[in-house]
Amino acid sequence: MAPLVPSSQPWVEKYRPRQVKDVAHQEEVVRVLTNTLQTADLPHMLFYGPPGTGKTTTALAIAYQLYGPELYKSRVLELNASDERGINVVRTKIKDFAAVAVGSAKKGIIEPLASRCAKFRFKPLSEDVMSNRILHICREEGLTLDAQALSTLSAISQGDLRRAITYLQSAARLFGSSISSSDLISVSGAIPEDIVKSLLAACKSGEFDVANKEVSNIIADGYPVSQLLSQFLDVIVNADDIPDEHKARICKKLGEADKCLVDGADEYLQLLDMASETIRALFNIPQGLVF
Ligand SMILES: Nc1ncnc2c1ncn2[C@@H]1O[C@H](COP(=O)(O)OP(=O)(O)OP(=O)(O)O)[C@@H](O)[C@H]1O
Ligand SMILES: [Mg+2]
Repeated sequence: MAPLVPSSQPWVEKYRPRQVKDVAHQEEVVRVLTNTLQTADLPHMLFYGPPGTGKTTTALAIAYQLYGPELYKSRVLELNASDERGINVVRTKIKDFAAVAVGSAKKGIIEPLASRCAKFRFKPLSEDVMSNRILHICREEGLTLDAQALSTLSAISQGDLRRAITYLQSAARLFGSSISSSDLISVSGAIPEDIVKSLLAACKSGEFDVANKEVSNIIADGYPVSQLLSQFLDVIVNADDIPDEHKARICKKLGEADKCLVDGADEYLQLLDMASETIRALFNIPQGLVF
């Protein structure tokens, strides 16, 4: 039989589980849904949880198992939540689609307008689960990934398997079948660790000018500041030589800076403000005082 997907297909699609039972790490969700599928008595369902943990995969697998390959395409309506979320989409697209789908539905499937949704929480994927899926893909694609590269991939993907698979495929395209930790860092857009550590070292010097110089270099090199904030957070949280109350103060500032960036604030000013507050926290200078 010809493969279902051509080999040029993105690996996130190629390795998307087709059956609910193959969705990894979401045991409770899988157990409840497997029972539900046996009766085809489906309530409305709301899947929630972090990105890349199997929500879309599970929804597609349910539809596939319920309708089979023939009917599947005509019974699935995917809407993009970033632009298709106005009331008109509900009034037209969704209601029209639901009417058609129900009118010709097989018996056993309940009426669609149930008063509430059954909610399913998807957990972030653990490092073990991520590694197993990644190693499976490596075997299938003939890639070699050493232990350090595997743990780097889990760390930079933060429980999001979609990200991990995408980084792996990009690295394989660029660097061939033997992939190292630094190959993965370069395709992920993660900032080299020594850059993040030198920013902290500059803050530890207590000199505003030194920190400002480091901040200016980071901006001039074009590193994304939101990514830097997230990596700076890791360094701060894991630092052995910073007292907890100082860590808390820096983390609070990191949160504020991240929010400001989302709201469109200037990257240089946010990073400089964050570095200044880090100096104040490290040297126990009350907020607002000039140092
Ligand atoms: N629990 C899982 N088991 C196996 N593969 C998974 C799992 N979660 C994610 N994947 C892999 O990651 C890809 C992305 O997953 P999926 O589209 O289901 O994420 P999602 O939870 O819907 O994320 P988002 O919130 O961003 O929409 C899938 O194609 C699949 O290859
Ligand atoms: Mg999804």
